[in-house]
Amino acid sequence: MDGNGRWAAARGLPRSAGHRAGAEAVRRTLRAAVEAGVEVLTLYAFSSENWRRSEEEVSDLKGLMLYYIERELDELASEGVRLRLIGDPSPFGPKLVAKLERAVAQTAANDRLTLVVALNYGSRAEFATAARRLAEQAVSGTLDPAEIDEQRIDGLMQTAGLPPLDLLIRTSGEVRLSNFLLWQSAYAELLFVETLWPDFGGDELKSALAEFARRQRRFGGR
Ligand code: IPE
Ligand code: MG
Repeated sequence: MDGNGRWAAARGLPRSAGHRAGAEAVRRTLRAAVEAGVEVLTLYAFSSENWRRSEEEVSDLKGLMLYYIERELDELASEGVRLRLIGDPSPFGPKLVAKLERAVAQTAANDRLTLVVALNYGSRAEFATAARRLAEQAVSGTLDPAEIDEQRIDGLMQTAGLPPLDLLIRTSGEVRLSNFLLWQSAYAELLFVETLWPDFGGDELKSALAEFARRQRRFGGR
């Protein structure tokens, strides 16, 4: 979800206004995804590199997340959305962590759409954690290194158990993955759109899904 800052700047507004508008785009896109029958929607809300932003902006984003959960949770729950987290939200403090954990617990039985929120997430850190686990198991003798295969690594990713990633959309004209789901995107269709995130919504999701439907996926075959 990129482009909040530029959306705000284009209107002479502070970045925080862009993030608020971005939260509205999350609402619209999530509703549209539920309606379209999307099984899993993963949102990159905060990367492990976003800590480089000013304290003020980080605190704005955190405040917005708290507000969003408070305002949206009941509706998400009643729409059959199950919340799941990847990344490590602990640096955001116990209040947000507790709220997130409650939201995950409250929606655990839902099965219409799984909303995965990536918070303080970074793909390379995810790899490093998986590598550490494998090494620990090998050292303790519970794992023979010869048994390390793709499936085992996949099972150690924070996305374990989720279906394969089909479509990855980046907004705002940037053409990079920025440390997002690198392992999981091996065969994902990538879509880079010019739309700034706060302008994203149901129509943009529909056209992204239509574009996805036009792609021929061969998974290395011919
Ligand atoms: C949203 O867009 C990203 C986050 C929610 C952290 P940006 O804040 O990166 O917006 P630009 O790139 O400055 O336009
Ligand atoms: Mg950006």
